[in-house]
Amino acid sequence: MAIQLDIVETPDKVAQKAASIVANLIQAKPNAVLGLATGSTPVPTYKRLVQMHRKNGLSFAHITTFNLDEYVGLPESHEQSYRFFMHQNFFQHIDIPPEQTHIPNGLAPDPDQECEAFESKIQSAGGVDLWLLGIGHNGHIAFNEPGSSSDSRTRLISIAPETITANSRFFDHPSQVPRQALTVGVATILEAGKILLLATGKDKALAVSKAMNGPVSPNWPASALQHHPDCTFILDQEAASLMTFTHSTR
Ligand code: GLP
Repeated sequence: MAIQLDIVETPDKVAQKAASIVANLIQAKPNAVLGLATGSTPVPTYKRLVQMHRKNGLSFAHITTFNLDEYVGLPESHEQSYRFFMHQNFFQHIDIPPEQTHIPNGLAPDPDQECEAFESKIQSAGGVDLWLLGIGHNGHIAFNEPGSSSDSRTRLISIAPETITANSRFFDHPSQVPRQALTVGVATILEAGKILLLATGKDKALAVSKAMNGPVSPNWPASALQHHPDCTFILDQEAASLMTFTHSTR
């Protein structure tokens, strides 16, 4: 069950590949369940999918989506909330009915109940067909920070200091970055039919190589993806620069 590698030249080509895999899935299964990610990496992929919707009539009308995570304490109207991000970068530009989009509610009065309900909604939708992922510099997927085990489920977590630093580029001041988030678990992600992890830039090279070539360990949560039967990393050359090729390349 090796992770499949797809190394392309540029971030734009990463987006092209990822968008065409998502579009093919939607064509084959118009009511597919998509797992979505935030962060800067998937933005060009969303742009391409929006173009396909506008120019080629790719329809999301029967698609259901689940997002990986949400900051605790930010209202939907906050421009750094992941609900706001998804609306700005994707949902407002396509034909998906808002009630078919699911993002954990970071203002839920009972976070544990919100997390349990989120897991139940994924189950009721029939599970995620394809989950799109980014990766943090410390190997986190969603907000599963180092220490997250492969059997973790949707839960409230504390964001790691290095992630707060990395994500502070989107806020006026590091003190404004929320310290907690609701995140799906590693096990929640591993239940998807297919996983596509996108990474671009040399600052992701270490995390990507640990995930792919390192031992499976909670120290590098993305390494748990080695247990998945259908996981592909789509990387630009910079993100792939520390990779050792003990796995098959296609
Ligand atoms: C955040 C998100 C992750 C994302 C990561 C990397 O912490 N919770 O889902 O993968 O950032 O983001 P970027 O793509 O901007 O490097």
